[in-house]
Amino acid sequence: MVSKSKLLEINNLGKSFGGNWAIKGVDITVRKGELLGIIGPNGAGKTTLFNMVTGFLKPTEGIIRFKDKDIANLKPHNICNIGIARTFQIVKPFGNLSVLENVTIGVLRYERDVNKAKEIAREKVKLVGLEKYMDTTASSLPLGHRKRLEMARALATDPEVIMLDEVMGGLNDDETAEMMNLVKTLHNKGLTILLIEHNMHALMSLSERVVVLCYGKKLADGTTDEISSNQEVIEAYLGSDDDAEN
Ligand SMILES: Nc1ncnc2c1ncn2[C@@H]1O[C@H](COP(=O)(O)OP(=O)(O)OP(=O)(O)O)[C@@H](O)[C@H]1O
Ligand SMILES: [Mg+2]
Repeated sequence: MVSKSKLLEINNLGKSFGGNWAIKGVDITVRKGELLGIIGPNGAGKTTLFNMVTGFLKPTEGIIRFKDKDIANLKPHNICNIGIARTFQIVKPFGNLSVLENVTIGVLRYERDVNKAKEIAREKVKLVGLEKYMDTTASSLPLGHRKRLEMARALATDPEVIMLDEVMGGLNDDETAEMMNLVKTLHNKGLTILLIEHNMHALMSLSERVVVLCYGKKLADGTTDEISSNQEVIEAYLGSDDDAEN
């Protein structure tokens, strides 16, 4: 079998906040087209990892390479331009703008013609299933729809890699199922996806491989079967899952 090419390489990554290491010595390789799940208890460093890869935080130490290029010191808009997009754990749409306007802003990064940008944005809105809400003000959408708008905004930049930070957080069962379908659709289209998720059912059924972070360190990295039977992971994280007692 031909192995897929490396897209993102993270080596010995570390971030210290005033002497406290939120992440330390983390190595992760992501291959083109892969769907990598990232789990770990609250405060494990998952969002900090995303913040470093997307240029919102500068690493204290370590290397981040995208397609063999060092990107650790690039600014967020540069990272976005080279093809890495993200969603935020706390959704941040422009509340007083419509769904279509929110997504069009993202497209205008690379398409200057406003009408063409709107056309591309419409496609992204349809892709996430919000076509009925094109002209709805973002702030009046329920959370499940706002999370999908956040996905459309990330997709607007036409990324190769999309990093999803708890896009299922706070969603009900139906909304979660819809979001899982959307993630699957994007993966089937060839997008490389990094998925931080506390919903273990969703994460395990979507991911091809899972990285476990715990207190800023990488505790495990393997297939879903390897992770769900790893004793250290069960003790550190899975064992404390709310569902475990049911
Ligand atoms: N800007 C910051 N300044 C200081 N400390 C920070 C900052 N950002 C994160 N931290 C700390 O770094 C650690 C990791 O936080 P992070 O948000 O990455 O965790 P997480 O795994 O995403 O958690 P959760 O599952 O709750 O979202 C925490 O101890 C947090 O308090
Ligand atoms: Mg987080």
